Amino acid sequence: MEFGHETVVLRRGQRSRLPIIVAVHSTVLGPAVGGCRMWGYARWEDGLRDALRLSEGMTRKCAAAGLSNGGGKTVVVLPADRPLTADERRAALYDVGDIVAEFGGRYLTGPDAGTGVADMGVIGERTEYVFCRPEADGGSGDPSPFTALGVVAALRATCLAMSGSPELAGKRFAVIGAGNVGAQIARQLAAAGAALILSDVDPAKRSLAAELGAEFADPESAVTAEVDVLVPAALGGLLTRELVPRLRCIAVAGAANNQLAEPDVAELLRAGDILWAPDYIANAGGVVNSVSREILGDDPATAVKRIESIADTLTGLFETAARTGITTAAAADALARQRLAAAV
Ligand SMILES: NC(=O)c1ccc[n+]([C@@H]2O[C@H](COP(=O)([O-])OP(=O)(O)OC[C@H]3O[C@@H](n4cnc5c(N)ncnc54)[C@H](O)[C@@H]3O)[C@@H](O)[C@H]2O)c1
Repeated sequence: MEFGHETVVLRRGQRSRLPIIVAVHSTVLGPAVGGCRMWGYARWEDGLRDALRLSEGMTRKCAAAGLSNGGGKTVVVLPADRPLTADERRAALYDVGDIVAEFGGRYLTGPDAGTGVADMGVIGERTEYVFCRPEADGGSGDPSPFTALGVVAALRATCLAMSGSPELAGKRFAVIGAGNVGAQIARQLAAAGAALILSDVDPAKRSLAAELGAEFADPESAVTAEVDVLVPAALGGLLTRELVPRLRCIAVAGAANNQLAEPDVAELLRAGDILWAPDYIANAGGVVNSVSREILGDDPATAVKRIESIADTLTGLFETAARTGITTAAAADALARQRLAAAV
């Protein structure tokens, strides 16, 4: 990886004694934003690598979404062998808050894997530069409904590109992962009259499928089912070189981060005539909402409009890719690069 970051702080937490990394990749477009991941790594160096990679991804995501923000990320390296006690967790979150405060507003943190809205409230006791605190504390709360809203907008744009109509009704979707975001996508698809396969490793999610009149399937068969759109909403790395030739969908568009197991999978999808909505475009609704509500001071309706514009961005990318013969992944990267270049 080429080192292009502006600032990286690697610090042992004063209270928690845990390794904490705050990576600010870019503030070229404006203050950097990016969540706080609390995760167990075998070595702290792996946490550092994640922070560097994820903060760079946030720069791309914000630029492509048209936000006046750059990318950052916080990683707290948890002990590999045991969970934190409640006191230790609070100590780690205070440590994060103090480090974020040192940036003086050049970087704002928020929730990510291993942290949630309540944790943001705790960080908020140490710094004002934190998104998604509980609504009762003046924050914008859980970002996942807004991520789901953006993904559904992306699904309409995907349907438009593949069938000439953005209509969801009558089309068939397989949603992989019925967690915070996936369950809300599934609900909106069902409400719009789409046919649905729902899948999760957790069999308790079968009841949601029953409630929505959806088929419940194990992940392996759901991923390769004959559908219009495959909707990844679980972990990253779903689209491997081995899987792509076995897919029986027309398009893939979903919430999961880092869907491509290898970058060249984008080319395999294109060669197989499978339309791919770049993940960081489709799943930007959460960060767009936070920035809109908490930095720009927009009202909820304006924030929703900004989230729904994900559909226009995606339509533009699909057209560019089709016209120039590049992958949708390359088109998205080019859009982000253009916006960054225009700002320097
Ligand atoms: N929450 C957000 O606002 C947000 C924003 C941007 C991106 N994302 C991405 O969207 C994805 C889902 O996020 P979330 O917040 O809903 O997470 P979550 O943990 O609430 O849900 C994930 C779900 O996937 C299931 N799952 C795990 N492995 C699976 C597998 N192999 N096959 C099928 N199901 C599996 C889990 O049981 C769980 O129900 C993640 O990749 C996340 O990074 C989320």
